[in-house]
This record gives sequence, structure tokens and C-alpha cells, in this order.
Amino acid sequence: MCGIVGYIGEKPAASVLLDTLSRLEYRGYDSAGIATLYQGQIHAGKDAGSLMEVVAKQHLDMLPGNIGIGHTRWATHGGISAANAHPHMDCDNEIAVVHNGIIENYEILRQRLKGTHRFLSQTDSEVIPHLLDEYVHTGLSLEQALQKVVKELEGSYAILAISSREPDKIVGARRESPLIIGISPEGNYLASDALAFHGITDRVILIEEGECVVVTRVGVSIYNESGEKVKRAPIKTDWYHGELSKGLYDYFMLKEIHEQPAAIRRAVCQETAEVMAIAAEIRRVKHVVFTACGTSRHAALIGRYVFSKVAGIFGEVVMASEFEYFIESVDSQTLVLAISQSGETADVLDGVRRAKVKGAKIISLVNTVDSSLARLSDRVLYMKSGPEVGVAATKTFTAQLTLLYLLAFALADKYEEGKNQLTSVTAKIEESLVADADETNDLALKLKNQHDFYFIARGINFAVAAEGALKLKEVAYVHAEGMPAGELKHGTLALIDRGTPVVAICPHDYTFDEILPNIAETAARGAYVIGVSDKFESLFNEWIRIPPVPELFYPLVTIIPLQLFAYHSAVFRALDPDKPRNLAKSVTVK
Ligand code: AGP
Repeated sequence: MCGIVGYIGEKPAASVLLDTLSRLEYRGYDSAGIATLYQGQIHAGKDAGSLMEVVAKQHLDMLPGNIGIGHTRWATHGGISAANAHPHMDCDNEIAVVHNGIIENYEILRQRLKGTHRFLSQTDSEVIPHLLDEYVHTGLSLEQALQKVVKELEGSYAILAISSREPDKIVGARRESPLIIGISPEGNYLASDALAFHGITDRVILIEEGECVVVTRVGVSIYNESGEKVKRAPIKTDWYHGELSKGLYDYFMLKEIHEQPAAIRRAVCQETAEVMAIAAEIRRVKHVVFTACGTSRHAALIGRYVFSKVAGIFGEVVMASEFEYFIESVDSQTLVLAISQSGETADVLDGVRRAKVKGAKIISLVNTVDSSLARLSDRVLYMKSGPEVGVAATKTFTAQLTLLYLLAFALADKYEEGKNQLTSVTAKIEESLVADADETNDLALKLKNQHDFYFIARGINFAVAAEGALKLKEVAYVHAEGMPAGELKHGTLALIDRGTPVVAICPHDYTFDEILPNIAETAARGAYVIGVSDKFESLFNEWIRIPPVPELFYPLVTIIPLQLFAYHSAVFRALDPDKPRNLAKSVTVK
């Protein structure tokens, strides 16, 4: 994971780097640091903690110069400490490097360098400045050195480097980790995600796999893997609908929960021809495989039910981190439907790359335009959710569901009907967000001392149970399990005791009558039952009321109070729901 940024231009680099880095903190917030160049010297500061904490401790904003690089870290190799924070330097403090990715062969490289170089961290990244130093001392320029170094690296990387010997440039390279250039009259920028350039520039250059770049005040040079110069004009980005501030909300998560009706409406607006073309591809193949991680996988699980119920198409859902173990069954008759908010999740990208090699068609549902997944795919539908800053996915989940509904209705030749139904369900979500006001807040307060929650549901609602549990785990650090209600009696029932909260997602649909006996089994053992339904049932100790909608669409409305419940549960435990410990929004490591 990690976010990296670079700047060279007229403005004070430190403030630009801190501003752009602040928009990449969703990629990690274990530690942060920047390095600038001024009067032939590198000036650097770094420490453990969030960007704001490190700025306060190390006065990063005071670093001088108009060129620099920065980093916000999600720890992989080496603990969370000042020494392991980036930038990393060579022994003479002449080269500073920031890195996002994993250098898999770093132990071998470190052993080779150890005799002549001093290592100060436990990270894989620290080999890079020392390797650069080796090549620079043979007389190569910084960019020539970087081209040599990347040939020695195994794994994934987006790298930025500056050198006090060549103070007018930033060099960079990428493989399997994103890196984008932003162009503006006041200078040029680099970042892991164009979100960093929000409010600064919408002119960007996408760096492709294996390329190296040299960025100066006035220009950009790009080199392919063979070292040949590549010409690429900037493109205009207009993909960031929406504000990047919290507005009147205390946290991004709450704001993003409330943005869901607008996000669904935007997701509904797709090019009809593109949706139809994707539907035609799906009809053409023998096997449809959904792949995704976390919340996106929960959307896939719901999509599978919708495809089956609306269009009679059976699809399998394979967790992206497990996809490679099924690769023998993938062939040119397979269509992989990859779902990812970021489009950068390493497990998803790995599965998709392997499937491509086997001749599979790749269709992706992505939020981040031109992300790695989008670029690997044969066709893409964009969620159009705008930036989702909270680490916990909320509005992108309902946008993913929207796209899956659209596809299913297109497959059944009922596209317009699907769009109309989505539009009326969205109005119900809007009403329920207003109606909720204090309901989930009061419940979260009441249950704030509970440590174990069980979320149960049946059929299409099962993945909502899983998603409700995931939200509670990730933002409130509460143990929660989501499972098909019918599975309870096969083991988990042993854990239900007097007062154990059981959240039953039981809208008045085809699952309602079947889940009641399962709820009764928990109630008989003393469970405190929270029913999420449009129909009251006497087994409920608490009733979270949802609006009635056509039964296929219940996941869009039942998830809303569960997101709110998780949010309030975090706040009552004095936790920051936007930045849960140990997590990052974009998981770019396997
Ligand atoms: C969701 O709340 C989580 N932060 C996480 O499970 C996330 O959905 C997962 O990492 C997949 O991310 P992606 O959609 O960007 O691929």
C-alpha cells in the first residue's frame, strides 16, 4: 500500500507535498515523511504516526526548497517506527527514495550490499537508495541508475528518487504499483493516485508498467523497459465528482453513507451501448466468475443471486486471494467479472492477470478511472462514486450493487425496467436516511459494551449480514460474524448465550418465513435479537425498520442501517471510523 508524492516547481515543496500526501492517507497512516532539496542538500523529516502527528513532531512544513518527495506508509516489512518510515537515504545522504510496493528479493540484495552500505531500517525499500548510489558512483545519471536498479528488483514498486548531485529532477519508475504525473503551470507533480492532485490540476500523464520517468520543472521524459523514449501527451481527468472535505459531517464515513442516494443515481447513468456490449459478452461464455475482496466480494455475492434470479445466469464467486488455486479451470470460455473500488487491489490484479493468460475475458466494475484493473480489462463499467475517503467502503458498495443490477436486467432484456426500479429504490433510501436520525445511534449506545455480534440472513441477504459484520469489525474493533442463518445450528449456536446480540437481516421477502425458526433458535438461548426488517416480528428485542421495496432490491436498503450502526459504534468507543487501525483503503500487497 503506501502513498507516494513528488513535486518540482515554483511553490515551496514542503507545503505541496503535505497537501498532496494528505489526500493519500487512505493508503496508509502508520508513518509519514518527506525529503526536499535545497542548496545542494537533502532535508528530510519522518516519524511514526499519521501525517498530521508527524508534521507536528518533525516540523515537516519547515523543510526548504522547491523540489521534494513524500510518503505515507502502511507497514509490511519492518514494524511501525521512525527508522522504517520513508524517505530512505543512501549512506552519504545524497539520494532520497520513497517506495510503494514490495521488493521480494530484498534479503538477497541487502546481503550483497551489507559489506559496503549501512542499513538503518528493517524495510525492503531501503535497498533502493543504496543500489542507486552504487550505479551513480559508476558515472551514471540518476535516471540511468534507476533504469539499472529496477532490472534488479523483483516484486512490485512505484519509486521516486531525488539526488543532491542532480537537484533539478525527480526520477520515478513503476511496476504493479500505480504512479501518475500531474502537469500544471506552477510545476509538475507525481503521485500514487490522481486524487492527490485534486484542486491542483486535472492534466495528468499515466505511467505504464515498467516505465521510468524524469520530471523537471518544465517537462517530462518517459522511457520504456528497453530504455527507449516514449511520447505521451497529458490527458484531462474529470473523474472526481464531489467534494473532498467532510462538509458538515464529523467523519467522511458518515458523509459517504449519506452520499449513497446520489452515488446510486450516478452509477445508474451508464452508456447503454456499453452495458449491452458487456451483457452480450456474458451471454457468449460458458462460465461467469466474479472475483473481488472484502466489501467488493460481498457485492459480488449479491450479484450472483441477482444474475441468477433476474437472468437465470449462474456465476461463481471466487475470493481474489484464492483465485490462483482455481486457475486450471479458467479458459477462453470464462468471463471474469472483477469488482474493485480502487482498481489497485493486488489480489484482484493477480487473479485477473492469471485469467488473462488463460484466455479469459475480463470485465471490471471499478471506481478509480484508469486504475490498473481498468487498464487490464477488456471492458469497464465505472461506479462514478467520486472519492471515497473513509477506509470502510460504503457508497462504493451500493454503487457496485447498482452496476450488478443494471447488468442483470440488461442480460434479461429488461434494462429500462431495471433502471426505473433502481430509481424508485433510491428514493426510499433517501427517505430512510432522514428517518433514521437517532435510531441506530441509540442502539449503538445501548450495545456499546457488547463484544461479540452475530449477523444472520438467508439467500440474497446473506452477504448483507457478512458486510454488516465486516463494517462493525473494521471501524469499531468488535468481533462480529456474518453467516447464512441456516448454518447457525451447525456450530456457531454454541456461542449464543444470554444477551448475545444477534442481528437478523430479514426483510419481508422470500427468506422471511424461513429465517424465523433460526431467529427463534437464538432467542430460545437468550439472544438479544435485533431485527432489520419492514415487518415487525414478536421475536425482535429491537426493530430496525426499513422501507418495503421490490424483494430483489432489499440489499440496497438493509445495508444502510448496518453501516450507520457500525459508524455510531465506533464513535461511542472513541475511535476514528475513517482510519481504522492496521487497515488501508487500497491493499496493493498480496
Ligand atoms: C471495505 O470496508 C474494506 N476496506 C475492504 O474490505 C475493501 O473492500 C477491500 O480491500 C477491497 O478493496 P477494493 O474494492 O478497492 O478492491
